[in-house]
Amino acid sequence: MATSLELRKPTDPDLAELVDVVRAGIHDPQTMPFTTAWTDAESPELERRVLKYWWRCRSEFTPQQWDLPFVVVSEGTIVGVQSLAASNFPTLRTAETGSWLGLDHQGAGIGKEMRRAIVSFAFECLDALAVTSAAYMDNRASQQVSLATGYEPNGTVFEERRGERAEQIRYILTRQRWSELQTNAEIHIEGMEACRDMFGLANPLG
Ligand SMILES: CC(C)(COP(=O)(O)OP(=O)(O)OC[C@H]1O[C@@H](n2cnc3c(N)ncnc32)[C@H](O)[C@@H]1OP(=O)(O)O)[C@@H](O)C(=O)NCCC(=O)NCCS
Repeated sequence: MATSLELRKPTDPDLAELVDVVRAGIHDPQTMPFTTAWTDAESPELERRVLKYWWRCRSEFTPQQWDLPFVVVSEGTIVGVQSLAASNFPTLRTAETGSWLGLDHQGAGIGKEMRRAIVSFAFECLDALAVTSAAYMDNRASQQVSLATGYEPNGTVFEERRGERAEQIRYILTRQRWSELQTNAEIHIEGMEACRDMFGLANPLG
């Protein structure tokens, strides 16, 4: 079980460290956990894609449409990414989680810990009503992280993956279920007050 994780918005030097994690590998090249197969790119296109993605997320953030990735820091080292994304969040109050870790950091409980952290952020700070996620049929680790966090299966969809039809399991965790499952995880969130309006959340939650 991992000890204590930090999820934070990265500086550009953090992104340089993150790119090294990407270069070292995220998954077996025989498999593809992502619908957009960004990890198939060769260097230096791979590094450029990673940086452009982060800069795009920063520059295109609006209350109606945002993709909010955090770097995951374990014992002072950047080990991966935990993201939360939403469309029309002020109305729908639903956000989708996505994540990856460098191969060297997988299988040690970090995936579950960072998911619990982002889910707490969504419900406690953003007053979300539900969080969703998805995992391909052949991605057992991702499925297990969703189930262990309390998400429930919510049907399947087909996506084009590396030019082929692939089935994905959808997952949902409602606010009601999350509050019933409350664990004793200690999660501290800093800096939210200054940016509530960026999410269309002008007033402090009661
Ligand atoms: C998915 C990912 C973030 C999970 O993080 P992680 O730190 O490896 O996950 P954890 O160690 O916290 O938990 C993994 C769980 O899956 C289980 N698991 C792992 N591989 C498995 C397999 N092949 N079959 C069944 N269960 C498996 C583990 O036993 C563990 O379950 P537990 O609740 O019984 O302990 C990580 O593996 C990863 O980055 N994978 C590549 C990218 C990716 O798939 N991203 C998600 C796209 S949807």
